[in-house]
Amino acid sequence: MIEFLQNNYFHLITKNTSYIFKVTEFGHLESIHYGDRIQNQLFEGLRRKTTATVGSSIVYDASRELYCLDNITLEYSGIGKGDFRHTPLELLMPDHSFVCDFTYHSHKIVTGSVALKELPSAFGKDQDCETLIIQLKDNINDVTLVLYYTVYFETNVITRRAVLHNNNKNKLVIRKFMSMMLDLPSADYNLITFDGGWIKEAHKHMRELSYGVYVNESTTGSSSNRHNPGIILSEKNTHEDYGKAYGFNLVYSGNHYEAVEISNHDLVRVMTGINPHCFYWELNQWEQFETPEAIMTYSKYGFNGVSQNFHDFINHHIVRGEFANKERPVLINNWEANFFDFNQHKLVKLAKQAKKLGIEFFVLDDGWFGNRNNDKAGLGDYFVNKKKLPGGLDELSKKINKIGLKFGLWFEPEMTNEDSELFRKHPEYVVKIPNRKASFGRNQYVLDLCNPEVRDYIVKSFNGVLKSANIEYVKWDMNRHICDAYSSKIDHQGQFFHRYTMGLYDLLRRIVYENPHVLFESCSSGGNRFDLGMLCFTPQIWASDDTDPIERLSIQGGLSYLYPLSTMGAHVSLAPHQQTLRQTPLATRFNVSAFGLLGYELDLKYLNFAEKKEVINQICFYKKYRKTMQYGTFYRYNISKSNMINFVCVDPNKTCAILGNFELMAKASPSNEIISVKGLDENEKYTFKTFLQGISIKRFGVLINHILPFKIMPDGFIIRMVNQFYRLPNCVETYSGFGDLLTVGIGLNNEFIGSNYNSDTRLLGDFGSSLYIIEKENE
Ligand code: DGJ
Repeated sequence: MIEFLQNNYFHLITKNTSYIFKVTEFGHLESIHYGDRIQNQLFEGLRRKTTATVGSSIVYDASRELYCLDNITLEYSGIGKGDFRHTPLELLMPDHSFVCDFTYHSHKIVTGSVALKELPSAFGKDQDCETLIIQLKDNINDVTLVLYYTVYFETNVITRRAVLHNNNKNKLVIRKFMSMMLDLPSADYNLITFDGGWIKEAHKHMRELSYGVYVNESTTGSSSNRHNPGIILSEKNTHEDYGKAYGFNLVYSGNHYEAVEISNHDLVRVMTGINPHCFYWELNQWEQFETPEAIMTYSKYGFNGVSQNFHDFINHHIVRGEFANKERPVLINNWEANFFDFNQHKLVKLAKQAKKLGIEFFVLDDGWFGNRNNDKAGLGDYFVNKKKLPGGLDELSKKINKIGLKFGLWFEPEMTNEDSELFRKHPEYVVKIPNRKASFGRNQYVLDLCNPEVRDYIVKSFNGVLKSANIEYVKWDMNRHICDAYSSKIDHQGQFFHRYTMGLYDLLRRIVYENPHVLFESCSSGGNRFDLGMLCFTPQIWASDDTDPIERLSIQGGLSYLYPLSTMGAHVSLAPHQQTLRQTPLATRFNVSAFGLLGYELDLKYLNFAEKKEVINQICFYKKYRKTMQYGTFYRYNISKSNMINFVCVDPNKTCAILGNFELMAKASPSNEIISVKGLDENEKYTFKTFLQGISIKRFGVLINHILPFKIMPDGFIIRMVNQFYRLPNCVETYSGFGDLLTVGIGLNNEFIGSNYNSDTRLLGDFGSSLYIIEKENE
C-alpha cells in the first residue's frame, strides 16, 4: 500500500513495516522512518530535528541556514551541494561538472510491478503490489532521475531501482549509479556479510560498524563466491528470533557493490548497485540507463524474520515458470562418480542402481561432448563424444527413460578452451585484449557475450542439443572469473562487465524461457553466482562443489539468511570427502542435504547393502516431507553449546515440522540437551519422534567387545560382514505434547558419555546428527 499524505509525506506500507519519507521545502526526499509499522499518520514527531547548524557544514540555500544536506537522512543523494557522505551516483554532467542536485518534480502510483527493459526483476500481480514512481530533476542540466519503489505487502519487501534520462543535447557520463540508498538515523548496527571462495561459499561474518565506509563487492564479472550481494544490518543485540534487522539484496549477477557508512554525525547510509569498478557509461541526448532492482526488508523478529521475508518473496516474486513452488526431484549427478571417465555402459549401470534407490532424475555432468576428456579441451563443442556415447544423447536418454528416470545434462555455455573446434574456427569469439597475452582460469576462455554473433551461436548450439534428446533438466555451469576484460563490440570498455551481464540475461531468456518444461539449475564452480538475477531464470542453484556436510552447514546455513531452501542444490556424496578428507556418517550427509534440494553424487557401487537400505529410507522420507523441507517456514537456532546446530522447517499450516540436530565436534561427557521446536501452533497436539536412522557398528571400534559375550577384532572379518548388512538403531525417542510444550523444549536422552551404553543412549559423536518429525495428532 502506498499513501501520499498531507505535508508531502509518502507512506509505503507492508503487513508489518512502514517506510516513510517526505519532500522537503527544497524538493529533496527526506527519509523519515523504515521499520515497524506505524498506524497513525502524524509523522512530524518522527523527524530528526535540526534546530542548530553543525559547525563546518554547508548551507544549501542562504534563505534557510539550518538546511544542510550533510545532516539530513536522504532517499538518494547527489554530489557537490553539501552532502559529503558516500554518494550513490557520480556523474559527469552535461555542464561538465560533477555537481548534481536532483529535486522532486512529480510522482505517480501504479498497481502491480513495473518490469525493467533489459534486466530481470521481481514480478507481482496488481493485487500483490503497488509501485511509486518519483521523478526528480537536475534543472540546471535537464537530467531526470526516476526512483521506483515497489511495495510487496504480504512479504514485507520493498524493491527499489533508479533510471537516469539525459534530456540535454550534451552527453552525460555515468561513473557510478546505485540502485538504492537508505539513510537510517542511528549508528548502533552490526553488518553481516556472506563471504568465502570456492568450496567455502557464503560463510556468515558479522562485524560491528564503525566510522567510515565498509564495502562488500565483487569485481570478478559475476556476483562471486567472495562476497554475496546480500547483506544484513542488525541492531547490536539481534538474535535469530528477536531484534531489529534489515536485509538487502540485488537482482543482478554481475559485479555488485554494497557500501555501508557511518557518518560523523552517526547516521548510517546503505547503498547497493552495479560496482563502479571499471564502469563508464555515456548517455547521449534522450538516452536512459536503468539500474538493477534492489530488494530490502525489515523485521523485528531477528534474522529468522528477515530470512522468512526473503524466502517468501523469492518463492513468490522472483522464481517463475513451471517449477516455481513445485516440489523438486531427487537427482543423481554423475560428476563425483565418474568425472570425465565414463561411457554409456557405466552411466546406464549407475542409472539402474539409482532407480532401485528411488532416485527420480539422472544428470550427466561434464565430459559428454567434443574432445572433453579432461578440463583442458572441448568447451564450446557441443556435439556428442561418440567414443563415450556411440548412440548419442538420444539413445542414452531413451535408455535412462526406460529405466524409469528422467534425463538431465550439463553445459558450460559461456566458455571455450583453446583446444576446441570452436576456438580454432572463431578465435575472435573470446574475451581477450588484442596484442596482450591472455590469462586463464581452469584452462578456459570466457566467450564474449557482448557480441550478438557469439550469443546467437550459443543459443543455436544449446537449443539444438536440447531438441536432440529428451532432456528435462539442465545444469548451466560457469567456471571462471573474468579477466582481460575487453570486447570489440562495445562503444567503451567501461561498459564491458555490465554488457556481459546483459548478454548473459539475453542468453538465459532465449534458452531458459524458450524451454519452459526443462528444469534449469545454475552453477558456477558451485555457488560463485548464487544471486537473485540467476534465480529469475533458473529456479535452483548448485550451492557449492563442497559436499562435505559439515562445511555445508555453514554454506547452506549462510545462504539460508538470504535465499530459500527451494533454491539450493545439496547432494550426498562419499566420505571421506573429496574437498576436506573428512569422514562423516551417511545419515549426516543426508540430514544436511535434506535441508536443501536433495541429490546424490557418488558411484553407488561403493555403497554396501546396509547403506543402500539407508539411502532407500532417506529418499522415502524426503519424498514424503520435501514440500515441508523445500517450502516450509525455515528457522535457524542460535548455536547452542558451541557445537550443536539446529534447523527446523515448518509447514505453512503448522501440521508438520522437520527438525535437524547436528553435532560438530563431540564433547566429553556432554550435558543434557533440550531441544525446542519453533513455529508450531501452541494449541495443537503433536507427536515428536525420531526419523529412524541406524549407526554403523564400525564406529565403536574395539568398544564393541564391551557389549558382546565374546571378543572380536574391531576391523576384522566379522565386523566388516555385519556392517555390510546391519545398522544399530539410534536416537529413538517419541513424545507427545502440545505446541506450547514443544516450544519450551523436549529434554532428549543422554548422549553417549563414555559409560553405561544402552538402547536409550544417543550416539552422535563427531559430525553425528538426527532428524525429528513433529506431526499434528489427529483428534
Ligand atoms: C563445476 C561444478 O560446480 C561441478 O559440479 C561440476 O559440474 C564441474 N564444474 C564440471 O566441470
